[in-house]
Amino acid sequence: MLSEKTLQALNKQIALEGNASASYLAMASWCERQGLNGCATFFYDQSAEERMHMMKIIHYVNEMDGHAVISEQEKPKGEYNSVQELFKAVYQQEKSVTSAIYELLSISDEESDHSTTLFLQWYVAEQREEEAQIRTILDKIKLIGTGGQSLYFIDQEVQNINAQRGQEEAGGEEGVA
Ligand code: FEO
Repeated sequence: MLSEKTLQALNKQIALEGNASASYLAMASWCERQGLNGCATFFYDQSAEERMHMMKIIHYVNEMDGHAVISEQEKPKGEYNSVQELFKAVYQQEKSVTSAIYELLSISDEESDHSTTLFLQWYVAEQREEEAQIRTILDKIKLIGTGGQSLYFIDQEVQNINAQRGQEEAGGEEGVA
């Protein structure tokens, strides 16, 4: 059984993950229009991941006899001046999701809700990985600079990360089988 305070905070997180999914979808679409296919694939995958994060919370809340609420979605930003600006926005977005997860954890600790605390551990690890990945991309963007072919090289780097991610996921699935 969830306390009212925890339930409200989890429902807020459902909305946050849903908005993150929509935001990544808009970013993917922007990248696709710019011909940045590596970045577009990255954000389409990321959008699906955020939807999965949202779904996990919905199932958890309902399993705990709560009522998972699906609220109205914010309209995501659809235009960016540069790929650099876009990845900086992604980093800020992930940092605010991490803060929201920490806030949720403070509530579950306060309420001695061990089940929710345990459930949220997965999100803590996931956020650490996501933030590290975006920082890696931002570092590469800085190294590549803004020269003539920089967009091509940035897109290549992100494409390499997509391939790496695909391999890790395939490895994970093999481990599960
Ligand atoms: Fe589910 Fe990247 O926050």
